[in-house]
Amino acid sequence: MDKLVIEGIGRLEGTVTISGAKNASLPILAATLLSDEKSVIRNVPMLRDISTMLKIFKCLDVKARQDGDTVVVDPKGYKKCMAPYELVSTMRASICVLGPLLAKQKFAQVSYPGGCVIGPRPIDLHLKGLEALGAGIKVEKGYIVADGRRMRGGHVYLGGHFGSSVLATANVMMAAVLTKGVTIIENAACEPEVVDLTSFLMKMGAKIKGHGTHRLIIEGVRRLHGADHRVIPDRIEAGTYAIAAAITKGDVTLRNAKLEHMVALVDKLIESGLHIRKVPNGFRVKYVKKLKPIDVTTLPYPGFPTDMQAQVMSLMAVTEGISVITEKIYPDRFTHIMELNRMGADIRLEGPSAIIKGVQGLSGAPVMASDLRASAALVLAGLVAKGRTEVKRIYHLDRGYEKIEEKLAALGASVWREKEK
Ligand code: EPZ
Repeated sequence: MDKLVIEGIGRLEGTVTISGAKNASLPILAATLLSDEKSVIRNVPMLRDISTMLKIFKCLDVKARQDGDTVVVDPKGYKKCMAPYELVSTMRASICVLGPLLAKQKFAQVSYPGGCVIGPRPIDLHLKGLEALGAGIKVEKGYIVADGRRMRGGHVYLGGHFGSSVLATANVMMAAVLTKGVTIIENAACEPEVVDLTSFLMKMGAKIKGHGTHRLIIEGVRRLHGADHRVIPDRIEAGTYAIAAAITKGDVTLRNAKLEHMVALVDKLIESGLHIRKVPNGFRVKYVKKLKPIDVTTLPYPGFPTDMQAQVMSLMAVTEGISVITEKIYPDRFTHIMELNRMGADIRLEGPSAIIKGVQGLSGAPVMASDLRASAALVLAGLVAKGRTEVKRIYHLDRGYEKIEEKLAALGASVWREKEK
């Protein structure tokens, strides 16, 4: 297994190119299963989660290949409909093949996703939505076994204890586009990744009204065709590099990043004192003065994204004053706190809120995170920590950050990958 080694040296400068969004690519790839025709998906990042999805396609006998950032999927004639435990257990997002398989093959068997280090991640809303469309659902031997032979349009409210659900909206929408009748999804998630999926489905011939709103009205069609689509840029990767610029007192231009997808984060960074301005095809983040502490609460889009919570915590850990970060999507998503404290941060947890007392500096240490964004937070802390930081179990980062060490090194960071002994 690899680890990332970082020698904290300070200021990052230059331009980084933001890759396509992992969390848009995954459901869009799943949506290609709704057609018999070839689809071409562009701007797909080369990441472990994408390879996992392509392995699931292999199990389904669906031909797919990734060439650079382009994935060509040819689902012609595939009949299989089972996503096995060995793959689903490594990536929860595999659940998003459930809706397409059910709508296209009228039957699906997908391993029930297991536990997750960021806390409980139930799938009740996915199942509720599919049942509202008439799917028969059982759980057998650890698998969701779904029968779609009696499916027809339905009306479903997809709100849970923590608000709307991104992948439940994706799953139910993908099932509805090929299901006879009209389906209405209330409280649909509006994250840019869901909107991108909706655009792709519409290119395939799906009839969807309310695109980008909390109320989707879907009229099922008999057949969808293949489509050519370019995935949106990854707002979480862009946000992570924005914080890298801030934490190192640097000046970084994020090429391809879409400011309009990142309004809540950008608003908070400006409040803290960062200079952010739009440039052609991206935006520039520049440290101009001492940053101020900020309070952040994670919420569904367009609120502050939970996937940026850990990274902002690293920034606040070295920002003088007291900040409070409250997690309202995954109340247990705080595994990075202990590791940041091992580097000299002063953070304590009170219920769903982290109270962060900004310290003068951090010191490098061997650290380990068991979740993707927590790992990113530790890399950010390592960039400004004195001495050497080793972020272990780097495979989490490889799930979501394309060529992270190359991109950071191109901005001037001293960072490299080593084999763990
Ligand atoms: C997506 O997960 C993302 N993953 C996550 O990114 C992201 O953290 C999350 O949305 C929230 O923005 C992908 O898109 C592949 P949810 P998803 O269903 O769809 C609760 C990353 O780091 N809920 O929107 O699985 C749930 O527990 C990952 O890239 C139910 O109660 O998340 C949470 O509290 C991690 N019942 C809230 O809803 C359900 O059936 C929102 O989760 C489903 C969800």
